[in-house]
Amino acid sequence: MKVQKFESSLVKTEQGGLRNDNHCGSILVILLGDMLEEKMRCTWIMLLGQLFVGAMSLSREGKGPNFVLIMVDDLGIGDLGCYGNTTLRTPNIDQLAKDGVKLTQHIAAAPLCTPSRAAFMTGRYPIRSGLASRGLMGVFIISAASGGLSMQEVTFAQLAKQQGYATSLIGKWHLGLNCNQSDDFCHHPNRHGFDYFYGIAVTNLRDCQPGHGTVLFNAFKHIPFKSIGVAMATMVFLHALGIISITWKLVLPLVLFVATLAALGASIYFIFPYFNCFLMRNQEIVEQPFSSENLTQRMTREAIQFLQRNSERPFLLFFSFIQVHTALFASARFRGRSQHSLYGDAVEEVDWSVGKLMETLDLLGVSENTLVYLTSDHGAHHGDVSSSGEVYGGWNGIYKAGKSTNWEGGIRVPGILRWSGVLPGNKSIDEPTSNMDIFPTVAKLAGASMPDDREIDGRDLMPLLRGEVERSEHEFLFHYCNAYLNAVRWRPLNSDSIWKAFFFTPEVPDFHAIIGAMQQAVTRHTRTLVDVPDQLSLGNIAWKPWLQPCCSTLSQLCRCNRDDS
Ligand SMILES: *[C@@H]1O[C@H](CO)[C@@H](O)[C@H](O)[C@H]1NC(C)=O
Ligand SMILES: *[C@@H]1O[C@H](CO)[C@@H](O)[C@H](O)[C@H]1NC(C)=O
Repeated sequence: MKVQKFESSLVKTEQGGLRNDNHCGSILVILLGDMLEEKMRCTWIMLLGQLFVGAMSLSREGKGPNFVLIMVDDLGIGDLGCYGNTTLRTPNIDQLAKDGVKLTQHIAAAPLCTPSRAAFMTGRYPIRSGLASRGLMGVFIISAASGGLSMQEVTFAQLAKQQGYATSLIGKWHLGLNCNQSDDFCHHPNRHGFDYFYGIAVTNLRDCQPGHGTVLFNAFKHIPFKSIGVAMATMVFLHALGIISITWKLVLPLVLFVATLAALGASIYFIFPYFNCFLMRNQEIVEQPFSSENLTQRMTREAIQFLQRNSERPFLLFFSFIQVHTALFASARFRGRSQHSLYGDAVEEVDWSVGKLMETLDLLGVSENTLVYLTSDHGAHHGDVSSSGEVYGGWNGIYKAGKSTNWEGGIRVPGILRWSGVLPGNKSIDEPTSNMDIFPTVAKLAGASMPDDREIDGRDLMPLLRGEVERSEHEFLFHYCNAYLNAVRWRPLNSDSIWKAFFFTPEVPDFHAIIGAMQQAVTRHTRTLVDVPDQLSLGNIAWKPWLQPCCSTLSQLCRCNRDDS
């Protein structure tokens, strides 16, 4: 099989003495695959048939289709049955692939949540919106930070809304919240085209769930408090015995320093969840910190209600799962059910939820007029394993490495699209596509005109999906590591080879020709970049007390629970 051949050559090239998982570092030109085998060709009759049905379903309603866009957090391409997993049960997602088109070279625009989601929402490389970091952190982890998706950006939700669509985001946003005050909501989903929002503004972190350890606090765990304590006690003891003599002048600053660190660590440990892990309904905080208990079920219920409320008009639902990011969770009915510990349980619950959404579309009679898309924001968190050996991250199949790298495992994501009667069923497409393609695809189908005052990097997927063209328009794809160009993928127009160059050590004879072509593309691409404020600068990711969303008061640690869904 073609995919098989492709994959094994990838494995061979990527592993041939090139092991270096350091994410921004390294290496050379890789021939990703030689896909010379015959492509599936649609006959003219099929093509015309599809065009006819497509035209019918567009004109029947006098409007574009509805959209249900589903993004799973940190899901690996190798976790799904339809991408070859045999032990995790994902029947509902597999059915979507069976009834639609499966993309096998679907590429996330970045290997981290915030930039990838910015690219998805806007159809543009994250460096264009200032969501590609030049500093230490590539994502937001503090809710009271001022960076986020700028109001200058146009999202697909905004375009759909302008065309009369009811729009909703259920789940994770991760593209900022406030700019100047804790309630200006300048980066909030409501300001970016979503009429309705139920979910979390930042991300699910271990800190958000008791007993799962913490991200920030981990830094403090490296300080050897115990050894420092023992050393100090020994010194005091020796001093008391008169063996050594220490003065308070020497000891006091040390004690104060250690005490300050301990206090800081403790406050992060206890306060972080209240400050950063909250559930919102539109602009109201309804649970702080949010509980993972039945969370996917609650989100599913919210989504179903949105579909029911809006089935009579065009709608766009972006369902953005909080799973399967750590800290992992699953509702009681899914816990302990899969063969892959809590991670597998969480994936199976995601699949259940997808099934519920599809069932709702059927019940409401809108399946035929709804384009469904399912993806992950980037590759699975490869190598996220607990000290006791439990695997927290997913599986990227044969692809090397994972999240936070531009190896294929970091950016090659599932991409499934279903629109019964318009798109072919059970079709697999190997062409390079991007999660940025959803923006122009939605814009075009919704009848919106694309913003013409800016570069859009995504390409309308419909011609490829419907078999009207055989080749993707993406001759080049740029793989950024935050704000730095790490690699380029090139699919020459006159060949089926796919090259991927990581900028550095050359190791193939055509190196100069390939790098030359890519360099020209980089120059053209770089010329289209304009200076934008860095939303992830230190000043923009730091905690600003006056931005702290809080449903009680700071002194009460921002606790509440009035979620009535
Ligand atoms: C979670 O859902 C189950 C089943 O619907 C229910 O029995 C349980 O009480 C719910 N838990 C919470 C905390 O709401
Ligand atoms: C299926 O997914 C699980 C969980 O990520 C993984 O451990 C397992 O290796 C995968 N199995 C196959 C056959 O790909």
